[in-house]
Amino acid sequence: MRKPRSKERLQAELKSAKQRNKELRRVAFAWSNDDSGTLQPTRPWKCGVRVAPPTMLSAEELTLLYWCASSYYSGLGEIVDAGCFLGGSTVALASGLRDNLKVAGKERRIHSFDRFLVDHDTKQGFFQDSPLKVGDSFLSAYEHNIEKHRSHVEIYAGDIRSAAWNAPIEILFLDVIKNQASTMSS
Ligand SMILES: C[S@@+](CC[C@H](N)C(=O)[O-])C[C@H]1O[C@@H](n2cnc3c(N)ncnc32)[C@H](O)[C@@H]1O
Repeated sequence: MRKPRSKERLQAELKSAKQRNKELRRVAFAWSNDDSGTLQPTRPWKCGVRVAPPTMLSAEELTLLYWCASSYYSGLGEIVDAGCFLGGSTVALASGLRDNLKVAGKERRIHSFDRFLVDHDTKQGFFQDSPLKVGDSFLSAYEHNIEKHRSHVEIYAGDIRSAAWNAPIEILFLDVIKNQASTMSS
Protein backbone atom coordinates (compact mmCIF):
# COMPACT_ATOMS: atom_id res chain seq x y z
CA MET A 1 0.00 0.00 0.00
CA ARG A 2 1.22 3.52 -0.76
CA LYS A 3 2.54 5.40 2.26
CA PRO A 4 0.55 8.58 3.01
CA ARG A 5 2.52 11.74 2.31
CA SER A 6 3.73 13.71 5.31
CA LYS A 7 2.49 17.22 6.06
CA GLU A 8 5.95 18.59 5.18
CA ARG A 9 5.90 16.76 1.85
CA LEU A 10 2.42 18.08 1.07
CA GLN A 11 3.51 21.61 1.97
CA ALA A 12 6.57 21.30 -0.27
CA GLU A 13 4.39 20.04 -3.15
CA LEU A 14 1.94 22.89 -2.64
CA LYS A 15 4.80 25.39 -2.65
CA SER A 16 6.23 24.00 -5.86
CA ALA A 17 2.76 23.95 -7.51
CA LYS A 18 2.29 27.61 -6.55
CA GLN A 19 5.72 28.43 -7.96
CA ARG A 20 4.85 26.62 -11.19
CA ASN A 21 1.56 28.50 -11.42
CA LYS A 22 3.38 31.80 -10.90
CA GLU A 23 5.79 30.91 -13.67
CA LEU A 24 2.93 29.93 -15.99
CA ARG A 25 1.28 33.26 -15.34
CA ARG A 26 4.55 35.04 -16.08
CA VAL A 27 4.78 33.16 -19.38
CA ALA A 28 1.12 33.92 -20.06
CA PHE A 29 1.74 37.64 -19.64
CA ALA A 30 4.68 37.41 -22.00
CA TRP A 31 2.63 35.38 -24.44
CA SER A 32 -0.21 37.82 -24.59
CA ASN A 33 2.06 40.84 -24.76
CA ASP A 34 2.56 40.91 -28.50
CA ASP A 35 3.29 44.64 -28.38
CA SER A 36 6.69 46.01 -27.72
CA GLY A 37 5.31 47.87 -24.68
CA THR A 38 6.34 47.55 -21.08
CA LEU A 39 5.11 44.52 -19.19
CA GLN A 40 3.55 45.65 -15.91
CA PRO A 41 1.09 42.93 -14.94
CA THR A 42 0.45 44.25 -11.44
CA ARG A 43 -0.39 47.79 -12.53
CA PRO A 44 -3.11 47.45 -15.19
CA TRP A 45 -4.70 50.75 -14.19
CA LYS A 46 -1.59 52.71 -15.20
CA CYS A 47 -2.83 54.60 -18.22
CA GLY A 48 -0.61 55.38 -21.13
CA VAL A 49 1.43 52.20 -20.73
CA ARG A 50 0.65 49.30 -23.02
CA VAL A 51 0.22 46.29 -20.74
CA ALA A 52 -0.45 42.62 -21.28
CA PRO A 53 -3.62 41.84 -19.36
CA PRO A 54 -3.06 40.27 -15.97
CA THR A 55 -4.89 36.95 -16.04
CA MET A 56 -5.97 34.05 -13.89
CA LEU A 57 -5.36 31.69 -16.82
CA SER A 58 -2.29 29.59 -17.54
CA ALA A 59 -0.29 29.83 -20.75
CA GLU A 60 -1.86 26.54 -21.88
CA GLU A 61 -5.39 27.86 -21.38
CA LEU A 62 -4.59 31.07 -23.25
CA THR A 63 -3.05 29.07 -26.07
CA LEU A 64 -6.16 26.88 -26.26
CA LEU A 65 -8.40 29.97 -26.51
CA TYR A 66 -6.13 31.39 -29.20
CA TRP A 67 -6.33 28.10 -31.13
CA CYS A 68 -10.13 27.90 -30.79
CA ALA A 69 -10.57 31.39 -32.24
CA SER A 70 -7.88 31.16 -34.91
CA SER A 71 -8.27 27.58 -36.17
CA TYR A 72 -11.56 26.08 -34.99
CA TYR A 73 -13.88 29.06 -35.29
CA SER A 74 -15.86 29.20 -38.55
CA GLY A 75 -17.92 32.33 -37.89
CA LEU A 76 -21.27 30.52 -37.87
CA GLY A 77 -21.97 31.59 -34.29
CA GLU A 78 -20.69 34.06 -31.71
CA ILE A 79 -17.76 33.75 -29.29
CA VAL A 80 -18.80 34.17 -25.65
CA ASP A 81 -16.11 35.17 -23.15
CA ALA A 82 -18.08 34.77 -19.91
CA GLY A 83 -15.96 36.14 -17.06
CA CYS A 84 -13.29 38.15 -18.82
CA PHE A 85 -11.80 39.81 -15.69
CA LEU A 86 -8.94 42.09 -16.84
CA GLY A 87 -8.95 40.82 -20.42
CA GLY A 88 -6.58 37.82 -20.51
CA SER A 89 -9.14 35.51 -22.10
CA THR A 90 -10.43 38.34 -24.31
CA VAL A 91 -7.00 39.14 -25.74
CA ALA A 92 -6.26 35.44 -26.35
CA LEU A 93 -9.58 35.00 -28.20
CA ALA A 94 -9.25 38.30 -30.05
CA SER A 95 -5.68 37.57 -31.15
CA GLY A 96 -6.95 34.25 -32.52
CA LEU A 97 -9.86 35.91 -34.29
CA ARG A 98 -7.48 38.47 -35.80
CA ASP A 99 -5.36 35.61 -37.22
CA ASN A 100 -8.34 33.55 -38.43
CA LEU A 101 -8.25 33.41 -42.22
CA LYS A 102 -11.68 31.76 -42.63
CA VAL A 103 -13.82 34.43 -40.98
CA ALA A 104 -14.51 37.66 -42.81
CA GLY A 105 -16.85 39.60 -40.48
CA LYS A 106 -14.92 40.02 -37.23
CA GLU A 107 -16.51 43.12 -35.74
CA ARG A 108 -17.95 42.52 -32.26
CA ARG A 109 -17.94 38.71 -32.60
CA ILE A 110 -16.49 38.29 -29.09
CA HIS A 111 -19.04 38.96 -26.35
CA SER A 112 -17.27 39.63 -23.07
CA PHE A 113 -19.22 39.50 -19.82
CA ASP A 114 -18.15 40.49 -16.33
CA ARG A 115 -19.35 42.40 -13.31
CA PHE A 116 -16.03 44.29 -13.46
CA LEU A 117 -16.09 44.77 -9.70
CA VAL A 118 -13.07 44.39 -7.40
CA ASP A 119 -13.77 41.77 -4.71
CA HIS A 120 -11.79 40.74 -1.62
CA ASP A 121 -9.78 38.03 -3.43
CA THR A 122 -8.89 40.13 -6.46
CA LYS A 123 -8.02 43.12 -4.26
CA GLN A 124 -5.38 40.89 -2.63
CA GLY A 125 -4.16 39.18 -5.78
CA PHE A 126 -4.40 41.80 -8.51
CA PHE A 127 -5.23 45.24 -7.13
CA GLN A 128 -2.99 45.41 -4.10
CA ASP A 129 -1.10 48.49 -5.32
CA SER A 130 -4.15 49.97 -6.99
CA PRO A 131 -6.22 52.85 -5.61
CA LEU A 132 -9.29 50.77 -6.50
CA LYS A 133 -11.17 49.47 -3.45
CA VAL A 134 -13.40 46.42 -2.99
CA GLY A 135 -16.65 47.19 -4.82
CA ASP A 136 -15.03 49.62 -7.30
CA SER A 137 -15.29 49.03 -11.03
CA PHE A 138 -12.23 47.93 -13.03
CA LEU A 139 -14.03 48.30 -16.35
CA SER A 140 -11.74 51.11 -17.53
CA ALA A 141 -8.66 48.94 -16.85
CA TYR A 142 -10.27 46.14 -18.89
CA GLU A 143 -11.04 48.55 -21.75
CA HIS A 144 -7.49 49.81 -21.66
CA ASN A 145 -6.08 46.25 -21.72
CA ILE A 146 -8.12 45.17 -24.76
CA GLU A 147 -7.81 48.50 -26.60
CA LYS A 148 -5.97 47.03 -29.56
CA HIS A 149 -8.79 44.51 -30.16
CA ARG A 150 -11.66 46.82 -29.22
CA SER A 151 -13.54 46.55 -32.52
CA HIS A 152 -13.81 42.76 -32.18
CA VAL A 153 -15.38 42.92 -28.72
CA GLU A 154 -18.84 43.72 -27.35
CA ILE A 155 -18.69 44.40 -23.61
CA TYR A 156 -21.51 43.49 -21.20
CA ALA A 157 -20.97 44.92 -17.71
CA GLY A 158 -23.15 43.45 -14.95
CA ASP A 159 -24.44 40.15 -13.68
CA ILE A 160 -24.45 37.68 -16.55
CA ARG A 161 -27.56 36.03 -15.09
CA SER A 162 -29.57 39.10 -16.03
CA ALA A 163 -28.13 39.44 -19.52
CA ALA A 164 -30.38 38.91 -22.53
CA TRP A 165 -29.08 36.64 -25.28
CA ASN A 166 -30.55 35.54 -28.57
CA ALA A 167 -27.89 34.41 -31.03
CA PRO A 168 -26.16 31.17 -31.97
CA ILE A 169 -22.98 30.49 -29.99
CA GLU A 170 -20.02 28.71 -31.55
CA ILE A 171 -17.44 29.10 -28.77
CA LEU A 172 -18.53 29.35 -25.14
CA PHE A 173 -15.80 30.05 -22.61
CA LEU A 174 -17.53 29.84 -19.24
CA ASP A 175 -15.09 31.32 -16.74
CA VAL A 176 -17.67 33.00 -14.48
CA ILE A 177 -18.01 29.73 -12.61
CA LYS A 178 -14.45 30.00 -11.26
CA ASN A 179 -13.02 32.49 -8.84
CA GLN A 180 -9.46 33.52 -8.03
CA ALA A 181 -9.13 31.08 -5.12
CA SER A 182 -10.22 28.03 -7.12
CA THR A 183 -8.14 29.10 -10.13
CA MET A 184 -4.89 29.66 -8.26
CA SER A 185 -5.10 26.55 -6.10
CA SER A 186 -5.56 24.17 -9.02
C1 LIG B 1 -11.91 33.18 -12.99
S1 LIG B 1 -12.28 34.87 -13.24
C2 LIG B 1 -12.06 35.08 -14.96
C3 LIG B 1 -10.62 35.08 -15.42
C4 LIG B 1 -10.44 35.62 -16.81
N1 LIG B 1 -11.11 34.85 -17.83
C5 LIG B 1 -8.97 35.79 -17.16
O1 LIG B 1 -8.64 35.67 -18.36
O2 LIG B 1 -8.16 36.08 -16.28
C6 LIG B 1 -14.03 34.95 -13.08
C7 LIG B 1 -14.65 36.27 -13.46
O3 LIG B 1 -16.04 36.08 -13.51
C8 LIG B 1 -16.69 37.24 -13.02
N2 LIG B 1 -18.02 36.83 -12.55
C9 LIG B 1 -18.31 35.91 -11.60
N3 LIG B 1 -19.65 35.78 -11.47
C10 LIG B 1 -20.21 36.63 -12.38
C11 LIG B 1 -21.57 36.94 -12.74
N4 LIG B 1 -22.60 36.36 -12.14
N5 LIG B 1 -21.76 37.87 -13.71
C12 LIG B 1 -20.72 38.46 -14.33
N6 LIG B 1 -19.43 38.20 -14.04
C13 LIG B 1 -19.17 37.30 -13.07
C14 LIG B 1 -15.78 37.77 -11.93
O4 LIG B 1 -15.97 39.17 -11.78
C15 LIG B 1 -14.38 37.39 -12.47
O5 LIG B 1 -13.78 38.49 -13.12
